[in-house]
Amino acid sequence: MGYFRQNIEKAKGYEPGFQPSQTDLVKLNTNENSYPPSPQVLKVLGQINAEQLRRYPDPTGNEFQQAAAEVHGVSADYIMCCNGGDELLTIALRAFCDENRPVAYPVPTYSLYPVLANLQNCRAIEVPFDSEFNLPPKLAGAGAALTIVCNPNAPSGTFIGVDEMASLADELSGVLLIDEAYVDFAEENCVSLVKDFDNVIILRSMSKGYSLAGMRFGYAIAQPPLLAGLIKVKDSYNVDAVAIAVAAAAIKDRRYFEENVEKLKKDRESLTEQLRALKFEVPRSYANFVLAKSKNCKASVIYDKLVQRNIYVRYFDLSGLSDKLRITVGTSEENDKLISALKEILAGKEASYGRENRQDS
Ligand SMILES: Cc1ncc(COP(=O)(O)O)c(C=O)c1O
Repeated sequence: MGYFRQNIEKAKGYEPGFQPSQTDLVKLNTNENSYPPSPQVLKVLGQINAEQLRRYPDPTGNEFQQAAAEVHGVSADYIMCCNGGDELLTIALRAFCDENRPVAYPVPTYSLYPVLANLQNCRAIEVPFDSEFNLPPKLAGAGAALTIVCNPNAPSGTFIGVDEMASLADELSGVLLIDEAYVDFAEENCVSLVKDFDNVIILRSMSKGYSLAGMRFGYAIAQPPLLAGLIKVKDSYNVDAVAIAVAAAAIKDRRYFEENVEKLKKDRESLTEQLRALKFEVPRSYANFVLAKSKNCKASVIYDKLVQRNIYVRYFDLSGLSDKLRITVGTSEENDKLISALKEILAGKEASYGRENRQDS
């Protein structure tokens, strides 16, 4: 066509997980929270009035800033509201990176990072994790303007300790963005680093721990001078009035949040054990999903057979991931349905593997 910048013309674009319109299926493919949001959220939604919709929203979302600041023990000017954590990633790439200022991140990780790097026309330095997903020592010396570490990492669910992240922040000359979209399901987090380091940005999402993926709300935590630069880049009204009110109600309801997260963590441990009993290799997860490596049957085959049973998980045909399935932790009933289906599939497949092996020999 020739209308677009060259890198846009060539780009494949981000491929979001399948969002089916039917509801009678087991949907474990996009890491949404399997339980509903706080009842306070629906109450606030019911109270939205015409005046709130007629006027432009508060440009900084002060009601949410105040509520989040209290939760994190920082002042409100350390919080910047975003239209989902994804918007913060876009803003950061636009603010820090260009043709001469690369982004770096360990791989495999969230597949949006290279897509955004390409849109920004900046080089993406991909530093491989080892097989245990330890922080790669070469990351600090990569010379990037922006380094992103997804922690807990997607799709592995693994976690890098706060001390190690602090050493990385100290060594880097550029900015360190710690993508904590899944940290609500972990045992610790890196928020304390924003007090000690002027180059650290924490990304948070309301999509996972607060069950608000449909709302689109996330936020940054960082020192005010760093946020001031990001604010220059964002849309002036990047979060809408309904989202500000709803996200504030959700983050204020601490009891509901804690109970929801605890339930999911228990479900995660039980799902992990059951998958291991079926001979999947599953690293300990600190997120609301697990990464399961199949030893007895090809992951793509299991994926197709699950789809035939109306069960959706995520399969990535990518290096290092094509023998694995990423499975969102569902409700207890959903996890039971998945495990029963896997037992059936593996029983059938093991028999045919036996036949294939005999033919080969
Ligand atoms: C690693 C990671 N970071 C950030 C996000 C963005 O989350 P959201 O835009 O829904 O807040 C996601 C969403 O799945 C994610 O997996």
